[in-house]
Amino acid sequence: MSNDPANAVPSVAPAPPVTLVIFGATGDLTRRLLVPALVNMTRLGLSGDDLHIVGVGIDPGDDATLRASVSSLLKDADADQAWAKLKPRIRYIQGDFTQVPVYQALAAHLTGNVAYYLAVPARFFGDIVDKLAEHGLLAEKRNAFRRVAIEKPFGHDLASARALNARILGHVGEPQIYRLDHFLGKETVQNIMTARFANMMIETLWTSNSIDHVQITAAEAVDVGTRGSFYDATGALRDMVPNHLFQLLAMVAMEPPASFDAEAIRNEKAKVLKAVRAYTPGAARKNGVRGAYTAGRVGDRDVAGYRDTPDVAADSRTETFVALRLMVDTWRWAGVPFYLRTGKAMAVRDTEIVVTFKPVPFAQFNKTAAERLPPNRLVIQLQPGEGLSMEILIKRPGLGVDTVPVTLDFNYADRFDVGHLTGYESLLYDMFIGDQTLFQRADAIEAGWAAMQPFLDLWTKDGAPEPYAAGSMGPAGADALLASHGHSWHELAAAPAKG
Ligand code: BG6
Repeated sequence: MSNDPANAVPSVAPAPPVTLVIFGATGDLTRRLLVPALVNMTRLGLSGDDLHIVGVGIDPGDDATLRASVSSLLKDADADQAWAKLKPRIRYIQGDFTQVPVYQALAAHLTGNVAYYLAVPARFFGDIVDKLAEHGLLAEKRNAFRRVAIEKPFGHDLASARALNARILGHVGEPQIYRLDHFLGKETVQNIMTARFANMMIETLWTSNSIDHVQITAAEAVDVGTRGSFYDATGALRDMVPNHLFQLLAMVAMEPPASFDAEAIRNEKAKVLKAVRAYTPGAARKNGVRGAYTAGRVGDRDVAGYRDTPDVAADSRTETFVALRLMVDTWRWAGVPFYLRTGKAMAVRDTEIVVTFKPVPFAQFNKTAAERLPPNRLVIQLQPGEGLSMEILIKRPGLGVDTVPVTLDFNYADRFDVGHLTGYESLLYDMFIGDQTLFQRADAIEAGWAAMQPFLDLWTKDGAPEPYAAGSMGPAGADALLASHGHSWHELAAAPAKG
């Protein structure tokens, strides 16, 4: 890392005093991500000595048990001063959060600012919010906020998302709800807006005049593994598209906000998601492909077929891969397809956005017609490496005028010290200071589901997913979907296949 001032992390004031109540305190999310993020926040001065954590869980135990179970997952816990500071401020309430005593215990305990974090299976979201409200635990007082953070999945289709929104909004106002999508905590996802709105040479070209099509890919090398019961009821579309991939789509396709206030940004994101075309059943059939992996090899691992995964039905029709061709019906994006794909047990882990520009209108280099020149591409690499690259054409050195594609590359890691944060630090900090920019509003969530509903409806009735071998790039139908429009998928980065 250089001493370039560009590297300096801007200092921000610590969050106000708050008690964070985590439902699902002994679960994986809490131990692997939330508490480590809180330790990082303590280290970075993003939270002060007045941050308190109350974990609620059904497992037997006390404060010491919870502290020990978190500590066992922290790196160098014994030597970590931030952990030493935070640890005594962690309490445990053992109990069943579907029952009243937990809420009585909370009521006896809580004063001042409180943020509730629902790190529990989605079926409990509505019930917990009802019970918090019944016990007066969501009532805000002057100088004392009460906020609720809700993990995904928020609903499993349009009707259930609407019902959940209505149920929660029956108790609290929208400003109290923080619907999480952890993709928004990723530095490079937040950078999409900066890349666009701080760079004239990018944003000026950012319309259907210059852009041919956009590809958004979240390929995962991990298979379904031990998550069979959750995944078989969910599938790739619900798990990844209306939430994570739509966040990326919204960042790419939104109009410039009039200000960088949370509501101004959330308005633009909601507007663009509402403009994603809701297909007729016939159009959904033509514009969506789903797949399920069969046995294969991912990197150096043998992977059993999806249907042979524990807790997955032997005749499951759940997809582990999905590819969609979507249209955003706005002036800016008329006629520009947005191709989305995501899958498990693929050859590589690679999350990227590829913007392909139109061919130049005229050129005659060595008699190569303009449309035969490779197009310019901007690749926004989100995972595993993080960066931006631009594929452009230059003159091949030598006699004559011949073109050759080259790549201008920027890797975050070459320039900045990245990678030690979990991504939850900025989300928790923003919730504590009351900034909802990186959280999803009710209308945006519902817009996402509305665009997906035609595919969900179709696939409950229609056939089975197409097989693809674990360790491949997905089913042949996904390639055919693009080929039928004269396009092909961007080749995924051949990084070593790991999680
Ligand atoms: C989660 C999904 O929301 O996101 C998982 O439920 C998926 O199935 C994960 O693996 C991907 O997140 P990341 O940050 O690892 O890309």
